[in-house]
Amino acid sequence: MQTKINQLIDEVQAFVAVDAQALEQFRIRFLGRKGIMNDLFEEFKTIANDQKKAMGQELNKLKTAIQEKLDAAKEVTTKSGDFAALDLTRPSGIALPGARHPLSIVRQEILDIFGRIGFTVADGPEVEDDWHVFSGLNFPPEHPARDMQDTFFIQKADQEKGWIEMLLRTHTSSVQVRQMNKQKPPIRIVMPGRVYRNEAISARAHCQFHQIEGLYIDEHVSFADMKQTLLYFTQAFFGKAEIRLRPSYFPFTEPSAELDVYWGLESEADHRITKGTGWLEILGCGMVDPAVLEAANIDPNKYAGFAFGMGIERIAMLRYQIDDLRMFFENDVRFLEQFRSAI
Ligand code: PHE
Repeated sequence: MQTKINQLIDEVQAFVAVDAQALEQFRIRFLGRKGIMNDLFEEFKTIANDQKKAMGQELNKLKTAIQEKLDAAKEVTTKSGDFAALDLTRPSGIALPGARHPLSIVRQEILDIFGRIGFTVADGPEVEDDWHVFSGLNFPPEHPARDMQDTFFIQKADQEKGWIEMLLRTHTSSVQVRQMNKQKPPIRIVMPGRVYRNEAISARAHCQFHQIEGLYIDEHVSFADMKQTLLYFTQAFFGKAEIRLRPSYFPFTEPSAELDVYWGLESEADHRITKGTGWLEILGCGMVDPAVLEAANIDPNKYAGFAFGMGIERIAMLRYQIDDLRMFFENDVRFLEQFRSAI
């Protein structure tokens, strides 16, 4: 009887309930009216009295083992309904580490590149007022960028003034204005952030995207400093050393320019993304307009500065050869997974 009990204990302990039915069969087989336990108790009655104590203990061990198995299985069923979870030999699922979003990777790399030459990071609010997004940046009252077509306007309740008109910033240049009011020159900052424009979503445009703004104000800052800083950036980020500055216009910079890098015309893709020119526009920039400095109480006779702004999505699209902007916002794991190694 002793060996039989030992074998049964082993069997009970090895038992794995694959489903509720198997568990019920197990219970009936051991604890049912005609089950193994009852048989053993019958047999127990027939053994010699001096063996009863030891054998009784063995029987109790078996009973406890059965009960423990049943209790453990019940706990799992009530918790997860999954009996297979009891199979401790089953290989566990592989938990892959997460990946950073491509926009985060690119943003961080750009901030790091400017960090190496002394630019610190600053930020400002996404819900702004007209002054910080437009007026403080020398936008004339009738400038088309203020138009409803570009700007999302919102109403904000104010306890004293009632409803006041606010807007979602259309560019990170608003953070320039905030920082110029906050810090004294020298100012050397990069300002990443989300911006909003009232545009239909397509492969090339989105109503919400990201920019990085740069601002450098000090005595004797010149256009040549700006050019050299931006050349350093394009070299560090793209590994491209040929740039050109094309005249452009922004109300808050004078003179203003757009920066192109020479991308090359080696592959078919180069032809496609540069429209056959070999050149690619990367960012807008210029010398901070004296009117903007003055509006921020910085003496334009003493200080000068340059500013630049770039779209993170555009830079990321170039870096990873992605031709649909919507990819960044849909967050399809099959897309995001590909950046795991890019960390
Ligand atoms: N704010 C401009 C834009 O959104 C970019 C820019 C920033 C241009 C700073 C010049 C200086 O297009």
